[in-house]
Amino acid sequence: MTTETQLRHFLTLMDFSSSDLRKMTDRAIVLKQMQKAGEIYEPLKNRMLGMIFEKSSTRTRVSFETGMLQFGGGALFLSPRDTQLGRGEPIEDSARVLSQMVDIIMIRTFEHEKLETFTQYSSVPVINALTDMYHPCQLLADMQCYQEHRGSIEGKTVAWIGDGNNMCHSYINAARQWGFKLNIACPEGYDPVPSIVEAAGNQVAITRSPMEAATGADLVVTDVWTSMGQEEEQARREKAFEGFIVDDRLMAQADKEALFMHCLPAHRGEEVSASVIDGSQSVVWDEAGNRLHAQKALLEFMMGKAPE
Ligand code: CP
Ligand code: NVA
Repeated sequence: MTTETQLRHFLTLMDFSSSDLRKMTDRAIVLKQMQKAGEIYEPLKNRMLGMIFEKSSTRTRVSFETGMLQFGGGALFLSPRDTQLGRGEPIEDSARVLSQMVDIIMIRTFEHEKLETFTQYSSVPVINALTDMYHPCQLLADMQCYQEHRGSIEGKTVAWIGDGNNMCHSYINAARQWGFKLNIACPEGYDPVPSIVEAAGNQVAITRSPMEAATGADLVVTDVWTSMGQEEEQARREKAFEGFIVDDRLMAQADKEALFMHCLPAHRGEEVSASVIDGSQSVVWDEAGNRLHAQKALLEFMMGKAPE
């Protein structure tokens, strides 16, 4: 039985060393090849992943559930609609109860602090499957995707166009951990949290000009203007983000070999044009598919099953 002091949680990309993260990406590429070759590999036989979703999901749910099944284990979908969490059972009690029964837990919720509280009371490893502040699992898939298409991302330039949101915060952490330069273009009032930016020092620059951020970039990334939980701000945001679309004009500013990524779901004609997301520089389907392999590498590592 794992003791509390030995527990490894994954709440942000900063919870693991840069070397562990890079090894995980390499391992995800190997696991993908094994899967494609039809190899059966079941390091988590009889293990159960509890999946708490307080927000909608397609990719995260399907990738974790499929990954656990391929690893010989199982996954439980837990929504507030039909668990006692939704009827006000304290998060501390839910954490203590669930971790008596399952072997690892992932949570998608609103406040990052709620995830931290849950983690404090959990006796099994906890994974952040998206909070208002971070989306680290997506970055594992994105880093794998860049590596597969273009090799190491170290020393490259990434342009983040749009909201200083959870994905943007995880890109800032990724710049620190994988060693790339991140140019962020966001409208005034939609900057990422200053302490997260400051921690990255000169690896991150903020501008109001999408064109400036994209100039010479090796990877251009965007996300929705209105994240889950911000629906009532939609009209205001649409106005504020005018001109922050990733379109052909913007991509032409980037390196000619530049890739385009988006965590999805996307809104064509808002943050990205159909010509870009459905065009030749876009790798969004590989990126989405990699959620499966990247998170299998994560589960294997967190459950102490990764090969030395
Ligand atoms: N990118 C992502 O996390 O997708 P879902 O919201 O569908 O899980
Ligand atoms: N920023 C988006 C990401 C969705 C995967 C959101 O939080 O809704």
